Amino acid sequence: MIRNEVIDSLMSRKSIRNYTDQVPTEEEILTVVRAGQQAPFAMQLGSLVIQRNSKTNAFNAPIQFVILCDLHRMEKVMETRGWQRKASNIHSLLFGMQDAAYMAQNMVTAAESLGMGSCFIGAAPYMSEKLREDCNLPDHVFPLVILPMGFPAENPPVRPRYPMEFHLFEEKYPELTEEMTKKAMAVMDDGYLAQDYYKNAGFMIPLADKTKEEKYTFDNYSWTEHISRKMVQWSTDPDELLKQLDICKLPLSK
Ligand SMILES: Cc1cc2nc3c(=O)[nH]c(=O)nc-3n(C[C@H](O)[C@H](O)[C@H](O)COP(=O)(O)O)c2cc1C
Repeated sequence: MIRNEVIDSLMSRKSIRNYTDQVPTEEEILTVVRAGQQAPFAMQLGSLVIQRNSKTNAFNAPIQFVILCDLHRMEKVMETRGWQRKASNIHSLLFGMQDAAYMAQNMVTAAESLGMGSCFIGAAPYMSEKLREDCNLPDHVFPLVILPMGFPAENPPVRPRYPMEFHLFEEKYPELTEEMTKKAMAVMDDGYLAQDYYKNAGFMIPLADKTKEEKYTFDNYSWTEHISRKMVQWSTDPDELLKQLDICKLPLSK
């Protein structure tokens, strides 16, 4: 693999869940936000709110950003030009999520280059009512993710990723054989176990089905079981998120 400053920074990044009290300067904050803004965009449908209360921010980070999928701002521009939306709002929503996500990831990388850390918090879409109130969000703005940021008070190891043959497919998507799958799972599970990730976090997702016996301990509970439990047990009702979109008046009026 080729190494240079940018690649090294991308390869050594890790989510930070412990922060010092040091508050980033306005110049640091604006640099991060400006670098985020320079990400590729479809329609500039990403915007953000900064929150500076470390007591209420995730992981008590000195700052956090609420990353927004923002159709309202573009509607203002269109309105000013005398245009009314006709394209399906799902189309705008998909572009908006991408614009917001690429922007946010640029901010993660920019923060890293300034010695700061961050960690996405995925609960934002489930908190749209509260976030709409806290941040005074207008209709057609959806809180996609929260991004706490600050100077790291921890130095966790870089987390593992799937091996390349389970990730990059040459021209055609292959049959994922049991052997390939198990090998890839072992890379992830052994990697996280070697770091005592779940043991240190003291976190194991409990089995929802109480008639099932828990077979795992922190000595063998690892990433693939954890994510499987999330995939099966979390957010099983599609209406739950549709309701949140509805609260934000998204997606869809014809
Ligand atoms: C959309 C999204 C939501 C996430 N939500 C959370 C979260 O709620 N809590 C948390 O501690 N980490 C969260 N993470 C961070 C991931 O757990 C982390 O990126 C992943 O475990 C890989 O670790 P690394 O970032 O250190 O490489 C989230 C990441 C993404 C992209």
